[in-house]
Amino acid sequence: MISVLVFTLFSVIHLIVSARSHSVPISVAPVHYYNHHLSAQAQAHFHPIPSLSDTPLPSWTLKAVPTTVYRPITLDNFQDPLWNPIELLGPDVEDSHTLSQLARISGNAYALPGQKNWYDIDDAWNVGFPIGWEDPTVGFRGHVFLSSDNNTAILSIKGTTLQGPTSKKDKFNDNLLFSCCCARVDFSWAFSTVCDCFSGHWTCDNTCLSKALIEDSLFYSVGLNLVSNLTLMYPDANIWLVGHSLGGALASLLGTTFGFPAVAFESPGERLAAQRLHLPIPPLSNVSGLPIAPVTHVYHNADPIPQGTCTGFGSPCASGGYALETRCHLGKSIIYDTVGKLGWHVSVKTHPIKEVILHVLERDQEWEEGREVPLAVEEVDCTVRTQCDPNLPALTDSA
Ligand SMILES: *[C@@H]1O[C@H](CO)[C@@H](O)[C@H](O)[C@H]1NC(C)=O
Ligand SMILES: *[C@@H]1O[C@H](CO)[C@@H](O)[C@H](O)[C@H]1NC(C)=O
Ligand SMILES: *[C@@H]1O[C@H](CO)[C@@H](O)[C@H](O)[C@H]1NC(C)=O
Repeated sequence: MISVLVFTLFSVIHLIVSARSHSVPISVAPVHYYNHHLSAQAQAHFHPIPSLSDTPLPSWTLKAVPTTVYRPITLDNFQDPLWNPIELLGPDVEDSHTLSQLARISGNAYALPGQKNWYDIDDAWNVGFPIGWEDPTVGFRGHVFLSSDNNTAILSIKGTTLQGPTSKKDKFNDNLLFSCCCARVDFSWAFSTVCDCFSGHWTCDNTCLSKALIEDSLFYSVGLNLVSNLTLMYPDANIWLVGHSLGGALASLLGTTFGFPAVAFESPGERLAAQRLHLPIPPLSNVSGLPIAPVTHVYHNADPIPQGTCTGFGSPCASGGYALETRCHLGKSIIYDTVGKLGWHVSVKTHPIKEVILHVLERDQEWEEGREVPLAVEEVDCTVRTQCDPNLPALTDSA
């Protein structure tokens, strides 16, 4: 009798708390890290995150909601698989706390627990871990966060490091994935694989570029290996992929390939890269005609990088040797109007994940009428163009 009453009470409370869209809480903690050596045919390696015996690992609490994703029945026929709609628990991207926690998890792919750029869930957790993290030969890295029942595994993927041991490989991947013009940023930029695909009149030889893209040095190939490994380690887990910038674009491309929910923060447009990689593309939406990719992009409009406007001679991106020219994103986008609502000026200084977490996602602000998170929409007016002139700013893959 008592247990029935308790159960009923609990159900009522539960109903009230999760009245909106059947949101359920999920708690995850970092369990593995990986750092992948980009040597040919290297296997993905997960390592346990060391824990000090007297310090419990921190955990992050998120909300999940029933989500339909299209998943290839098998990846054996990689080019043209059959797709099954599957209902699973995906991230509740309408919940601002969930978004900010996923952003912190993404930011943590850049660091290890205890380092100064590790975003604690609470301030108490700040212990040093002596690990040779800064290995100059490593390119692809991040963490796996796991729920205690092993039902949810979140892979966070590191983005571009401007100055650090992975910078050179990061830049190679950025330019391969996000330039319209085969990374003709300047002549000191000497990755011949990329520039060899330039075929005049600001066009790329796309066959050439597609070949360059599937070489082992590309992070996407490493990611395929890693995600396959993760699915074998946790066969029953819901896998989510998250990342910031390049890391988010990789999360999106891998999420689209496998049919896993992905959340990407401030990522350059990756729709063109999906075409160049000849990724298996999920069924098209009847309404928009765009692929139903399980991806949510989160960015704000003072950051030129996701908008493909950090381009052209003299731009900070070109000066740094980056050709980040693409604009169209897969899936849906949540765009925070920091220019209109906060009066921000467009600047790459607003791109780092820390800026986005502290000054956008965790700001107490009504971004759209009655909404603490802007509505996620498909970028229907964005048309991928494979031709552009790097000397003309703002001439990107938009229609
Ligand atoms: C995944 O990678 C780990 C670390 O290298 C390895 O020990 C494990 O056997 C791999 N698992 C599978 C299922 O391949
Ligand atoms: C979760 O997976 C780990 C391996 O990472 C294993 O040691 C543990 O027993 C699993 N827990 C449950 C509840 O299945
Ligand atoms: C598109 O519409 C048709 C007819 O209404 C429906 O059977 C089909 O499932 C829809 N496809 C998708 C991907 O929603």
